[in-house]
Amino acid sequence: MIIREWTEKDLATVAILEHACFEDPWTMDMIKGEFGRMDFCGSIAEEDGKPIGFLCGTLLFEDAEIAKVAVLKEYRGKGYGRQLVEEFFDKVKANGARRIFLEVRPSNEAALHLYQSNGFHKLRLRKRYYADGEDALEMMKDLYPDD
Ligand SMILES: CC(C)(COP(=O)(O)OP(=O)(O)OC[C@H]1O[C@@H](n2cnc3c(N)ncnc32)[C@H](O)[C@@H]1OP(=O)(O)O)[C@@H](O)C(=O)NCCC(=O)NCCS
Repeated sequence: MIIREWTEKDLATVAILEHACFEDPWTMDMIKGEFGRMDFCGSIAEEDGKPIGFLCGTLLFEDAEIAKVAVLKEYRGKGYGRQLVEEFFDKVKANGARRIFLEVRPSNEAALHLYQSNGFHKLRLRKRYYADGEDALEMMKDLYPDD
């Protein structure tokens, strides 16, 4: 598995991965909107040349954020989600980040486990954050916990 930068050529690929991985996938306009952000920072995971996952994030000065991370069902449980997240840590840290934020559904056990075992801790609950009424858990990882 390799992790590489998400470029403009990957927009259609990400749309396919979105539909395969999420019940409420981003539309192409939403994906383009994320990609077009000045603080966009995304990556694609490939196995034998086939895109199998992606991470969509942002980096603005000291604060980074993970908006989405996803791996195709048949490739889950092999450590690829963890590798995507760790690669993001390295990349944003090298570019000045000190903290990483994210929001996650408390019902998403796989994502919660992935984030907690990678050093994210709970900050607060955002009531009825998602369109379907579920709360969001806001989490943060301190990239310099000893400072
Ligand atoms: C969340 C997701 C990216 C994890 O990807 P993955 O490649 O399966 O993750 P990994 O194999 O790297 O596993 C990471 C950790 O999560 C744990 N984990 C994976 N699936 C799990 C599950 N269903 N329930 C509980 N823990 C789980 C693993 O055991 C591992 O922990 P460990 O290293 O302590 O054993 C994947 O499940 C996914 O794409 N889900 C759909 C999209 C989504 O909900 N994304 C997150 C919100 S944007």
